[in-house]
Amino acid sequence: MTDVEWTPLPVPWAVRSVDRIPKQRYFDPDFYALETELFWPRVWQMACRLEEVPKPGDFVEYEILDQSIIVVRVDDSTVRAYYNACRHRGMKLIEGSGTRRSFVCPFHGWCWGLDGNNTFVLRSEMFDDANLDADDLALTPVRCELWGGCAWINLDDDAPPLRDCIEPFGSRHDEFKVEALRTEWWKSCLLPVNWKLATAAFMEGYHVPQTHPQLLPSAYSPDSSSVHPVVQASLYFMRTLGSGMGGMTHENDIRIAEGLQHMSLPDDPAEAMATWRGAVNDAVTSWHRARDCDFPDLNDLERRRVIDPIGFCFPHYFILPQYSSASSYRIRPLGPEETLFEVWSLTRYPNDRAPGKPAAPQPLAPDDPSWPMIPAQDFSNLPRQQKGLHAKGFEYMRLSDQIEGLISNFERVIDGFIAGLPYDQLVPAIQRTNTTIDVPVAELGLSEKVRAW
Ligand code: FES
Ligand SMILES: [Fe+2]
Repeated sequence: MTDVEWTPLPVPWAVRSVDRIPKQRYFDPDFYALETELFWPRVWQMACRLEEVPKPGDFVEYEILDQSIIVVRVDDSTVRAYYNACRHRGMKLIEGSGTRRSFVCPFHGWCWGLDGNNTFVLRSEMFDDANLDADDLALTPVRCELWGGCAWINLDDDAPPLRDCIEPFGSRHDEFKVEALRTEWWKSCLLPVNWKLATAAFMEGYHVPQTHPQLLPSAYSPDSSSVHPVVQASLYFMRTLGSGMGGMTHENDIRIAEGLQHMSLPDDPAEAMATWRGAVNDAVTSWHRARDCDFPDLNDLERRRVIDPIGFCFPHYFILPQYSSASSYRIRPLGPEETLFEVWSLTRYPNDRAPGKPAAPQPLAPDDPSWPMIPAQDFSNLPRQQKGLHAKGFEYMRLSDQIEGLISNFERVIDGFIAGLPYDQLVPAIQRTNTTIDVPVAELGLSEKVRAW
């Protein structure tokens, strides 16, 4: 085998100092164009939740930048993805979501089965045989793999398997049985900001005291009731996190915890807290198992420190598990300064009582009054931050290398993609970025390979 001479592409506005992020990455059209060309076509993306495609023939359209993908359930165990373009003259075959036994092009009526094979060409004798080759007429497949109750796509046929790119996030959330979660509700927000800015807003808890003061311990003072102050505080935070947010702390779990509030606890606050948490975890576990849900032992997960309250899966997906349920986020660029931010409330249902297919939400404005308090607070910062970045007197974000490291790790892996680095160098760096939030800057092994412009 001959060694191929290979040089990484230069990266404009690269992260040269790990704790300084050049502002141009968040609005420069050229940087956005490089992401479009070199980044998004090579990453695994959460394309849909599987409850959107429960039955054979159910399909959804997943859009990323100018690419539209059909994601369709073929049978009980198979979901496939195809480029959404007719093999005759390129017409989009589907829009939105629905159910089909076959895909019929609305232009001249050519047809394809769910397996992607062409089944009909009108007046085929009018075409040269070379243009009717069966393999060539089949819908062009897109890599599609299933994990965690979702279908994931990758536009690069040479990308590593999904699992390599989601570890250790994947294994940890397998233990939480994340695949048994189902959509309770789904909302989306159209944010006038860069997609990375929207993502970074959820990568550190450092903003909590100023942005979400209701989540600080000082926001709460116990009353004189007979309920232990530790329990009062715990219930206050469960209710505050859960308020309007569904799975961010589910009302089922709050009710279960409320049922235990008069239990006797040690006087020592730390011991009381540990006993209380253990009791709530046990009660939540038993309640869900009794109603026939596939459910992990929450105390076992907590003892082994398997699950963090927030998990990031590079490049655009979050899960925020709390007790039985979770919130989940997906972030997609619509333009250099426009982002679609989606939020799911996920919970567990007994097998026969899961709600039906969730419908894709109409995106709301960031200041829509229906947003619950926590996302409303985050969404109110973001457009203002995007504007501030344009100030001539502002050059780069200065990060804490101790607690805002995930933002740096995330941005530097993106540089690795824009430099065109091979997957054997990118995958370990991706895995070091699939972490919880509030982590330090990590050694990714990429910096000496990325050439700044
Ligand atoms: S473009 Fe689809 S059948 Fe002609
Ligand atoms: Fe926040």
